Amino acid sequence: MKNGLEVTIVGGGMITNDLILPSVYHLKRLGIVESINVCALNTPPLKSLKSNRELSEGFPGLGFTPFPVIEESEDRSFPELYREVIASMKPRQAVFVALPDPLHYAAVMTALQANQHVVCVKPLVLKYSQAEEIRKLAYQRGLFVGIEYHKRFDRRSLIARRRYAMGQFGEFRIGEAKLIEPYFYRYSNFQNWFTMDKTDPFTYIGCHYVDLVYFITGLKPVKVLVTGVTGRFPNGNEGYLWSHGRVHFENAAVLSVINGLGYPDEGAGGNEQCMTLFCEGGGKGSLIKHNDQFRGVTHSYIQPLGPGGSHFNFVNPDFYRLVPWEGSGFKPVGYGYDSVASLLGTIHRIEEACSSLDVPQALECRRGLLREIDDRGIIATPANSYINELVVEAARSSITREGRIVQIVYEPEPHIEEK
Ligand SMILES: NC(=O)c1ccc[n+]([C@@H]2O[C@H](COP(=O)([O-])OP(=O)(O)OC[C@H]3O[C@@H](n4cnc5c(N)ncnc54)[C@H](O)[C@@H]3O)[C@@H](O)[C@H]2O)c1
Repeated sequence: MKNGLEVTIVGGGMITNDLILPSVYHLKRLGIVESINVCALNTPPLKSLKSNRELSEGFPGLGFTPFPVIEESEDRSFPELYREVIASMKPRQAVFVALPDPLHYAAVMTALQANQHVVCVKPLVLKYSQAEEIRKLAYQRGLFVGIEYHKRFDRRSLIARRRYAMGQFGEFRIGEAKLIEPYFYRYSNFQNWFTMDKTDPFTYIGCHYVDLVYFITGLKPVKVLVTGVTGRFPNGNEGYLWSHGRVHFENAAVLSVINGLGYPDEGAGGNEQCMTLFCEGGGKGSLIKHNDQFRGVTHSYIQPLGPGGSHFNFVNPDFYRLVPWEGSGFKPVGYGYDSVASLLGTIHRIEEACSSLDVPQALECRRGLLREIDDRGIIATPANSYINELVVEAARSSITREGRIVQIVYEPEPHIEEK
């Protein structure tokens, strides 16, 4: 493919602002992306993206086409507009789904039905059967679907995966993981969709670490128990604000995961996160221990510039930062950017390899590359990361029944069994 991709980002919220849009801007500089649409529910998030100073200083001369148009009244909502925007795209471009979790399925299916490749923020969907439907439709049409699990691209995860595969840790036996997002999230748009009937902290962020344990060890989860602690958002909506999950793996190993929306805004980190996996083999114990919050860099600013307004901060240089580079503005670096670049770069690569062939050959060419990507297992796809949908489905069934055990069964067809 000589030209870059047309990219439509559906959803203009926090993750679009903090990671996706700046990464896509940089990919436009590199020629992977040609044009950018952002479609939100209404104009306020689009206006914030347009007026974001960090973005305009970081990416001078770059912009996006907003849907709905910026001049539209702020209180009008357009929940179906993304369908029209996607329908108007050339075939086999890229739709980047960055909507609240419960809306992913409809948007991903809409994109596939319109012959578009897809990238979706995690979790892909909330049910295994939906992931399977997506996998089948995508493969039938030779379209890529990748899920943006950026922790996979953290170098420490990649190093651990390689060394685990080489047998240097023996076998994972027991571990714990933690990801507590800031308290101030409760005041954001979260309060409108993070309700008990739709999601919970384990589903929202616990899935990152379950995916990571699977990514590093290759072990499949077989049993899930999740208990929630409820509370009210400022608008009165009730949600699970904290959760504790226990995931059992096929070799009887156990992972304990705590999550929540409550890391102190005055705290030094943007959140609290870490993972320890105790392993054993060859008559010895071994471990993999990642401190994912404090990565050895501390800043104290003269103004309260921390994520929650703190002066003193732990700075994560590894996830996503804008840094000076040889070009104008700034460039994004880190595993968040690497992940977006890998996903959109893969779509570009598929099109480059196959688009000049005739229709049946091009389809076979794309399918061949999709099988390779699935087998390699670095990029999460519906075919190689469906354990996440099973875990999420099991977790939702468990947390809504106060921590009941839910089994994941893989034969003859993967499904969950509620006890
Ligand atoms: N670490 C991560 O991987 C990570 C981090 C944050 C968020 N996420 C995921 O990203 C997704 C979005 O999270 P967020 O924090 O950006 O949420 P958010 O609430 O800040 O933004 C949601 C956006 O969706 C838009 N929207 C809602 N309905 C729409 C519709 N029908 N059509 C078009 N736009 C619509 C809203 O306008 C808003 O801009 C979630 O699935 C979340 O799990 C992933």
